[in-house]
Amino acid sequence: MPSSLPSFLTATKGDLQKAAQLLAEGECVALPTETVYGLAADALNPSALKKVFTIKGRPLIDPLIVHVLDIEALKKIAEYDSRLEKISCFWPGPLTVVLRRKSCVPDLVTASQETVAVRVPAHPLFREILSLVNRPLAAPSANPFGYVSPTRAQHVRDSLSERCPWIVDGGPCRHGLESTIIDLSSPHKVRLLRPGPITLESLREKLGEIEVVTKVAPAQDAQVAPGMLERHYSPTTRVELFAHGAMPASTEKNSAILFLSRRKDFSLTAEIFYLSENNSITEAAANLFDLLRKLDTRGFAKIYVERAESAELGLAYNDRLTRAAAR
Ligand code: TXA
Ligand code: MG
Repeated sequence: MPSSLPSFLTATKGDLQKAAQLLAEGECVALPTETVYGLAADALNPSALKKVFTIKGRPLIDPLIVHVLDIEALKKIAEYDSRLEKISCFWPGPLTVVLRRKSCVPDLVTASQETVAVRVPAHPLFREILSLVNRPLAAPSANPFGYVSPTRAQHVRDSLSERCPWIVDGGPCRHGLESTIIDLSSPHKVRLLRPGPITLESLREKLGEIEVVTKVAPAQDAQVAPGMLERHYSPTTRVELFAHGAMPASTEKNSAILFLSRRKDFSLTAEIFYLSENNSITEAAANLFDLLRKLDTRGFAKIYVERAESAELGLAYNDRLTRAAAR
């Protein structure tokens, strides 16, 4: 069937203006960020925000991250917190901060809570569009709710198709895992809600003690950080994890194994894939969602994936894998 969908918008001035114009008119546009592709909409326009939830099939209790150009723009939607000075070195970049909201922020963004999640993204195309629209942009990952986040323009097309005709292609995302989320909404405590590319270690260096919020199991707690729901980021194929440096104990027939780096001399009957060529967790993280999506179309009975050491970026990598494997 020939597709009547528009081709991807690119980095040309005309295309970026087109994207900005669509957003200003209340449409949704998928945009590249340095973490994953986001499904962007005007964060101050409730009817545009509604479309985001509909396109993703996302429950309204799951609040959105608002993207702004800089701290000046942040101050218009959130209460400034002096601890931001200590972490401003991570911006623009893959760090999201939960702050007290300002009243101009629609309830749809915050799931009617008193807090709003804000991020200053680094991707040059996203930033160019932010400055053309001159408004904050809400953007969840551009995937159907619960599926693996997109790290390439084609991933967005594959899973949202005509639900999201407008996609800006900025190439593969550099980090490939969603931003780190910390909660600064309470004055005396910092909580890590989602591990990500800005590591817990580097945040503790700047902020001191940080409480790590782990699994938020039942849906009624979803507003804490529904990204923390146990099953999330899941491919359709069953995923099973095995320890870093080890082998799966046994493998089912017609399965795939994803190793973090090259292995030799082993005898397992499965198709073998490598997340990194040179034992780099950064490279493995950047490839993880792309490879999971590819393997998910191959009809394997199971995908076995190697865990990383649980430190630095390995924390975020293991977090996403654990969710992908949750049933
Ligand atoms: O890297 C990213 O953060 C990407 C790119 C597009 O920026 N966005 C992203 O958005 O991952 P999303 O919606 O897939 O994940 C946002 C997470 C959700 O788990 C949501 O619950 C949490 O942020 N969140 C949003 N607002 C919050 C708030 N006020 N309090 C606590 N958690 C919040
Ligand atoms: Mg998401």
